Amino acid sequence: MLEFQMSWQGFLYKGNKLENYVHKAVLLEEAVKALITRCDGSYVDCTYGRGGHSRAIALKLASAGRLLVLDADIEAISHARNFFTDDSRVVVEHSRFSKIRELTEKHEFRGLDGVLLDLGVSSPQLDNSARGFSFQLNGPLDMRFDSSEGTTAAEWLRDASEKEIEHVLKNYGEERFSRRISRALIAARDASDIETTKNLSDIVVKSVPSIDRNKHPATRVFQAIRIQINQELNELSRCLEEVVGLMNSGGRIVVISFHSLEDRIVKHFFKVKATGDDFPRKFPIKDADIYRPLKIVGKPVKASEEEIQVNRRSRSAIMRVAEKMPC
Ligand SMILES: C[S@@+](CC[C@H](N)C(=O)[O-])C[C@H]1O[C@@H](n2cnc3c(N)ncnc32)[C@H](O)[C@@H]1O
Repeated sequence: MLEFQMSWQGFLYKGNKLENYVHKAVLLEEAVKALITRCDGSYVDCTYGRGGHSRAIALKLASAGRLLVLDADIEAISHARNFFTDDSRVVVEHSRFSKIRELTEKHEFRGLDGVLLDLGVSSPQLDNSARGFSFQLNGPLDMRFDSSEGTTAAEWLRDASEKEIEHVLKNYGEERFSRRISRALIAARDASDIETTKNLSDIVVKSVPSIDRNKHPATRVFQAIRIQINQELNELSRCLEEVVGLMNSGGRIVVISFHSLEDRIVKHFFKVKATGDDFPRKFPIKDADIYRPLKIVGKPVKASEEEIQVNRRSRSAIMRVAEKMPC
């Protein structure tokens, strides 16, 4: 069994099996550089995955620094618990990131200096057919980040109305054939339940009139259903709202998104918080009296050609950074 140990600043990390480190962290250096403004600060990695970002953050922190690690996925969290066992600076919680307020209060993080969200799905989730995230691997149609609760994609497809399915495919997948596909799904489920990723993928392939050579026809459908099952956009909006109130002045929010729906939410949220409340034009308030809780830091960052060469997943990544302003 391949195992390794890494020691740095007196913190000994007992490694897991090397084969567990199959997620290549995206925009790793850029994200950690933007996030850490003080090495004795308090940080939250909302999306541990396989810990690429968390490990890099921990390496930058001094002994007084603290890191709260979250993930909705129990496999990610057992990886984190294993990895950070001997590091008293790090606390690990199995949770959705919308609960960030409750968790920072529980662990007495008084004021955050940085919060990282590296959104979406990790490679270990995609590569495990039993999780049902990939149309390229046949497996049960699950798609939950947290397999311990909630509705699976198969259950949702069994119970949702045609209108609801169409709405999800259109709004969360930006799928132009949403109507045809939802109709085909309803017809197929009347014959037998749609229980596997292959069942779903086959129905989509048969129902679309044209095939894009560069994209599998089920790509958008899988994305849409995954977003619905995990309520990904609501989670993101709720977390961002909470985070602003939890940050110390000068603290940074760093968000890496992988599709335009997520990025639009982040971009809009940062813009609104950086512009301040929208008062009517003649409202008697001076510009100087408008509180703008965030300042946008730099331009959106994309992966370099070199990174895309070694990690294709990074090609769609976009990172935005904002800083908390003094009250
Ligand atoms: C792209 S991966 C993160 C990879 C990680 N930065 C790394 O370097 O290994 C995204 C992770 O976020 C988790 N996740 C997605 N939505 C979540 C939510 N609402 N709350 C908590 N974790 C979530 C997923 O389970 C997945 O493990």
